[in-house]
Amino acid sequence: MERELTLEVVRVTEWAAMAAARWMGRGDNVAADRAAVDAMRAMLDTVDMAGTVVIGEGERDEAPMLYRGEKVGSGRGRAVDVAVDPIDGTDLVARGLPNALSILAVAPRGGLLRAPDVYMEKLAAGPAAAGRVHLDRPVEDNLAAVADALGKPVGEVTVAVLERPRHADLVSRLRKAGARIRLISDGDVAAAVATAQAGTGIDLLVGTGGAPEGVLAAVALACLGGDFQARLRPADEAQRTRVTEAGLAHDGRLLAIADLVPGDDAIFAATGITGGDWLRGVRFSGEGTYTHSVVMRRRTGTVRYVEALHHPERKRPQGS
Ligand code: FBP
Repeated sequence: MERELTLEVVRVTEWAAMAAARWMGRGDNVAADRAAVDAMRAMLDTVDMAGTVVIGEGERDEAPMLYRGEKVGSGRGRAVDVAVDPIDGTDLVARGLPNALSILAVAPRGGLLRAPDVYMEKLAAGPAAAGRVHLDRPVEDNLAAVADALGKPVGEVTVAVLERPRHADLVSRLRKAGARIRLISDGDVAAAVATAQAGTGIDLLVGTGGAPEGVLAAVALACLGGDFQARLRPADEAQRTRVTEAGLAHDGRLLAIADLVPGDDAIFAATGITGGDWLRGVRFSGEGTYTHSVVMRRRTGTVRYVEALHHPERKRPQGS
């Protein structure tokens, strides 16, 4: 992929985050999501690429924009697959809570698993613990492996887990093993990526969340040299049908980064909507609108943080 694409895609997540941030704390998930989707869709077409959405807002009949199969980009440039999550943590935005992100990933054709919207069991860890944890091992063993890799006692390891009834047993086992736990109400991409970011205080993510979000997290961890392992866990018949329709197997096989992000190149971009452990949120000021983003590339491992001051009224793309 062209190097310039890395800087181009971050404009897309910035624009979506700024639109979503206007809805922070206003209790309207639908309006926040719609604003982010509209903004992301409009800005995508200013990027020189021949993109196809492989992870988006749903199928064509259920999503007017950013549906799977939709063509995005100017049409000039390389053919790429695009995965979008205009808001990861819609409820976080609606309630004004931290760690909501706007996210985009791009890879050469075939470079992202076309994960359907079903549940996925996940394990994410940073570079130090990569290769030393395994989704098939008991969580207590993985905890001990992370503690060992990080050179600290288990009691100082912090594990992020989505706060859901389905995780009650997992949480009680982690507590019994002596781990510190960060229960998150939403937004497991931010928590997964945080495991590979020194200073966020999160060392491991375990539990079940959305499969599309799992692919996005895998792209980031591939860029950062971390570990991400997963397994599709369709919750009901409708989800099992989606797995079949996506052409994927029901055999519960382990999905490693190489399965989720095949190929040696991919780009991950994210902009903070509400401030969090990793990225600051959108800030509106008299000078303009500040955003804080990250963009990284798997091939080179370059991680760029972009702090930007925008004057949105001067750069509205057509259609937004
Ligand atoms: P949305 O922003 O689409 O609401 O998703 C947020 C999220 O918390 C993801 O980060 C996570 O993977 C998934 O929802 C968990 O799903 P559920 O809320 O059904 O447990």
